[in-house]
Amino acid sequence: MSMPFTDRHIGIDQDARRLMLDALGFESLEAIMDAAVPAAIRQQTPLRTLPAPATEAEALAELRTLADHNTVRRSLIGQGYYGTITPAVVQRNVLENPSWYTAYTPYQPEISQGRLEALLNFQTMVSELAGLHTANASMLDEATAVVEGMLLARRASKSPSNTFLVDADVFAQTHAVLAGRAEALGIDLVVLPLADTAPDALPECFGAILQYPGASGRLWNPSGVIDAVHAHGGLAVVAADLLALTLVTSPGELGADIAVGTTQRFGVPMGFGGPHAGYLAVRSGLERQMPGRLVGVSKDSDGRPAYRLTLQTREQHIRRDKATSNICTAQVLLAVMAAMYGVYHGPDGLRRIAQRVAQQALLLREMLLEAGEELVHDDFFDTISVRVPGRAAQVAEAASERGILVWQQGADEVRLSVDETTTVAELHDAVAAFGHEQHGTHGWFEHGTGRIPAALQRTSEFMTHPVFHTHRSETSMMRYLKRLADRDYALDRGMIPLGSCTMKLNAATEMAAVTWPEFSALHPFAPLEDVQGSLVMISHLETWLAELTGYDAVSLQPNAGSQGELAGLLAIRGYHRSRGDEHRTVCLIPSSAHGTNAASAVLAGMRVVVIATTETGDVDLADLRAKIVEHGESLAALMITYPSTHGVYEHDVMEVTQAVHDAGGQVYIDGANLNALLGYARYGDIGGDVSHLNLHKTFCIPHGGGGPGVGPVAAKAHLAEFLPGHPLAQMDQHPPFDHVTGMVGAVEHRGAPVSAAPYGSASILPISWAYARMMGADGLRDATANAVLAANYVALRLREHYPVLYAGENGLVAHECVLDLRPLREATGVTVDDVAKRLIDYGFHAPTMSFPVAGTLMVEPTESEDLAELERFIRAMIAIRLEADAVADGRWPEGDNPLVNAPHTAESVIAGEWEHAYSRELAVYPADGDRTAKYWPPVRRVDQAYGDRNLVCACPPIEAFA
Ligand SMILES: Cc1ncc(COP(=O)(O)O)c(C=O)c1O
Repeated sequence: MSMPFTDRHIGIDQDARRLMLDALGFESLEAIMDAAVPAAIRQQTPLRTLPAPATEAEALAELRTLADHNTVRRSLIGQGYYGTITPAVVQRNVLENPSWYTAYTPYQPEISQGRLEALLNFQTMVSELAGLHTANASMLDEATAVVEGMLLARRASKSPSNTFLVDADVFAQTHAVLAGRAEALGIDLVVLPLADTAPDALPECFGAILQYPGASGRLWNPSGVIDAVHAHGGLAVVAADLLALTLVTSPGELGADIAVGTTQRFGVPMGFGGPHAGYLAVRSGLERQMPGRLVGVSKDSDGRPAYRLTLQTREQHIRRDKATSNICTAQVLLAVMAAMYGVYHGPDGLRRIAQRVAQQALLLREMLLEAGEELVHDDFFDTISVRVPGRAAQVAEAASERGILVWQQGADEVRLSVDETTTVAELHDAVAAFGHEQHGTHGWFEHGTGRIPAALQRTSEFMTHPVFHTHRSETSMMRYLKRLADRDYALDRGMIPLGSCTMKLNAATEMAAVTWPEFSALHPFAPLEDVQGSLVMISHLETWLAELTGYDAVSLQPNAGSQGELAGLLAIRGYHRSRGDEHRTVCLIPSSAHGTNAASAVLAGMRVVVIATTETGDVDLADLRAKIVEHGESLAALMITYPSTHGVYEHDVMEVTQAVHDAGGQVYIDGANLNALLGYARYGDIGGDVSHLNLHKTFCIPHGGGGPGVGPVAAKAHLAEFLPGHPLAQMDQHPPFDHVTGMVGAVEHRGAPVSAAPYGSASILPISWAYARMMGADGLRDATANAVLAANYVALRLREHYPVLYAGENGLVAHECVLDLRPLREATGVTVDDVAKRLIDYGFHAPTMSFPVAGTLMVEPTESEDLAELERFIRAMIAIRLEADAVADGRWPEGDNPLVNAPHTAESVIAGEWEHAYSRELAVYPADGDRTAKYWPPVRRVDQAYGDRNLVCACPPIEAFA
């Protein structure tokens, strides 16, 4: 009999639990939860839908059955998603390697140099392929990258026009996402066939988007259109296929201001829609207005080059409703994979892959022409449109019988996209689907450029940096990946006690099915009959998550918490408007809220009004009531986080939600802190109308170094129809299946899509499915209680050294605690930064810094850490406090002590004379314990301001490191 998974997931064992409860003065876990969670909000309804917990083996067997209900046919569908070969060395050493997938967003650059370098490779590769100056470190997908391109154009354009032009030949999903987002912001979209429109006939606009090559496959020179957009004072956004860009003239060379797209076909499986890294690159001059994260080069305190996230003040955390975008979690792991695909193949390898694709497309053209078929366009890279009046469905059906999927464009056109994995035999099968048997008489040459017109053939170089020329052998590649991973601190080294981030275990069994082809190789627009297994899994998750949170409907489409917020607020907006309440546009948000909340509200077309928080961190009820009165009929919504971002169960939450409902508003509860609530209280029961959940927190999807994420949006029945739908969804009823009856679900989601793919990042849903399935309802509840126990234990042990800033009425915190370091600074001069960096010397990732309050550390230990690791952290924090006291006592000078000099690299303690007031040993081995397990940071403290002043966002020359 194998051990229950709950005991594998929860790090605190029975003995430890007893000891911790005794220290806190509670009889049992239930007793501490009774004291911590206000009685008024406690969940009354027993959970019914989640089955009794499965063992790891049983869960895998059930996943296997679900996988067997999917059918993977060879996809020639294209439309933004292509077959690709993930290099095995990248799959094993990145995607399946916890050193990469369990890392957090690189906000602490000293312990993130490996993934920062990988992301810089990504930025360099993308910007050079796009022919533009700067690329960011990933977007959530192509369609949302297009939206961000439009918003950037609006910010940067001086045109008074409110019109954004959209080429008729953009992908259908892009158009659908763009339309929804533009509508919310009052932007007019004008769709035109740009390739066939005379440039001087273009209307006034602040920008335009075109697909290059088009969704139809058509390859044309858009420089005339781009010039015309510029003449109107607008910016040109080009959604470009990265593989095509190895052979065709880059958007930058054609005059584009912004290039966007996906890097999926650079080694990242289609995965039934995602996750994949979108990209966004800009011409010089626009970099300070870009959305998303940007990696840059700075220097450390020894003057050595060091990577860091640059221009962070642009980020939503700082700028709130002034943020350039609401994107927080992005797609780091997938960006790393795409970058490493580029590193492994190099420019020549990429060009060869593209040439093969182009030549195969040419071969397909010749076969189709010979068979008498009519092609829509002459020039293309990989996609051929075939005119088949009235026969499209028949051709698609015949292709499917031969194991091939094609794209049906209405009743009269079929599109075929060739990719890296396509074989000549498949081309023959595809042609046969048109009713013509082929005999394989055509030869083809791998190294031509297919049907790319001479005038559009690329002549400029790209990816010239040595990193793209060095790692051709698998040995070299494996070692490069290992070298980078070794520079980073991820969960496979130790605890990452980041408040608000829930860095819990991402169990191996949960991860197992992600790479099974039945989940990873599905095209997001594959036909309904091919995706039954995934839809059943999706319906399970929708049903379970709805019940666990007290809502009626769930959409798994949003690709991160921020997108769930946006979808939820758009649902509120849709609801108000459906009732004729167009005037309800004010969104109340507490001052302590996460920055994405305000940014999302702005993007949903709402006006943000800030509510004060009390000294204890609760929503200030008096201020709330005053603001409700002040905004009267304009009130659309209140957005709160529960437990609050201060890590406290607010007792008045029901009064807060009631006050908003009484005034005709809707309540959005940010579910990022669900790990403190699951099994004990439900958002739907405490007055929430809609919430997003972060599956990459509570439901074990790994953070991947800053993404992927999944941010489902859950809502009450009255909002369900406004949840995001999708024009290409296999099923529009939700859940897709009622998992008890097996019947098609009942609720239609009719809101505009917020992601390119109908079910968002579907290929990582097995992770959360497996977690819920193996924990069962009781296990999830247990996880919550243990997370709360761990946070309270840490708070108790550290309280006398660092004041715990907030607690509930009974002195208890929820699943995290905010340590106030401001008194320490006053007394000793030691800053929160010094403590965070010194923790690195002690072998820890710092807790969340200065959120939600400047000068604090927010610690969230989670249920997965065992007592030994909690104690190690506590000891380190206490030792650091003593070090700070030594500074205050004058034993160490303020300007030269182990805190201000932290972190210490190996080189810093061996090079030259040691002239500090503390020993080398204390510098690098401050803690007792296993010295062989030491984490050595690769750089000293990184100079943040220098990097912002001297913007370098591409790979620096090797000499810079000499
Ligand atoms: C309270 C809160 N809300 C929203 C978010 C945004 O979620 P995401 O990063 O998945 O977009 C976060 C992310 O850390 C958060 O902590």
